[in-house]
Amino acid sequence: DSADKGEYRHYMLKEIHEQPRVIKATMEGRVTASRVLEQALGTEAGDLLKDVRHVQIIACGTSYHAGMVARYWIEDLADIPCSVEVASEFRYRKHVIQQDTLFLCISQSGETADTLAALRQAKKAGFRAALAICNVPGSSLVRESDLVIMTQAGPEIGVASTKAFTTQLVALLIFTLALARKNGLSEERETEIVQALHLVPGQVNDVLALEGEIAEISKRFMDKNHSLFLGRGSQFPVAMEGALKLKEISYIHAEAYPAGELKHGPLALVDSEMPVITVAPNNSMAEKLKSNLEEVRARGGELFVFADSSANIKPEENIHVVQLPEVHEITAPIVYTVPLQLLSYHVAVLKGTDVDQPRNLAKSVTVE
Ligand code: G6P
Repeated sequence: DSADKGEYRHYMLKEIHEQPRVIKATMEGRVTASRVLEQALGTEAGDLLKDVRHVQIIACGTSYHAGMVARYWIEDLADIPCSVEVASEFRYRKHVIQQDTLFLCISQSGETADTLAALRQAKKAGFRAALAICNVPGSSLVRESDLVIMTQAGPEIGVASTKAFTTQLVALLIFTLALARKNGLSEERETEIVQALHLVPGQVNDVLALEGEIAEISKRFMDKNHSLFLGRGSQFPVAMEGALKLKEISYIHAEAYPAGELKHGPLALVDSEMPVITVAPNNSMAEKLKSNLEEVRARGGELFVFADSSANIKPEENIHVVQLPEVHEITAPIVYTVPLQLLSYHVAVLKGTDVDQPRNLAKSVTVE
């Protein structure tokens, strides 16, 4: 029963631990062992997807971060330009609509006022079709969209979104593969990624097993007022999501930067009082990221690195390394989100905040 915390102290912790199961549930009926099912997005989707030449993603909060990850996937795998914007900005400006643009709204609740307003505006403005990625059947967003991919996260009670985010990523990756297939993605590459996706629930379980280690590290954040999250490529939105979680529930000021921007400003803030958290799987950007880490260390900053062993980042004084399972580069954002959820959760518990109901925030922002 989702409305029951069971053995967990908070809904948020329960929802973090549900992720292996709900990720699997979101894949069910949409992928085989090696391919995305043609009908994954509904029977009419095939024709529609083959005409899509641009994707415009709109969302708010955590859902916006899911959209930012999807942009990397869509441009990389489907070779189609993709724009992402927060709904509250999109709805109040004039935009140039490219031909055959698919309008994609991401929302856990399907009731966020700005997202719905953006959708209604887009329908009048002549977008090709509206696709929704949503967790609540029968919500306004679902009812008003042409195509829907439901996330199977189940009710999410904690205000800080966790399982809704990772299931949004799964739905977005399945969508990307369906779109990419119409646009020249090879069968081999699709199979490689679908097989990697099947490994994600197990990998998330492996990350959950690191909770004790992460809880230990969280003690180092108790007396901190600021923090910096770094990532590169599709891990940059993961860093943004990590920073959002920390500020939402522990009230520690957290900023996320693409690691390459470090020297263009935030490096000036780095000292022993500013913990720097980095997500660094061993992907093509790992080498560049390592030199960014050196820049931080040279300035006395304390580093917390989440990386797999092949990234070869060794713990040293002021460098704490949490070793994660080896993951495929495409699915890495899903897996690397989880340790940052656990980190912010444990910092918040130590600080004694109201984890499930953080001050001033609402689960669903249905008025502007
Ligand atoms: C609120 C919630 C966030 C959520 C955002 C967007 O700010 O506290 O957790 O990400 O709304 O909500 P949606 O339901 O549209 O995903």
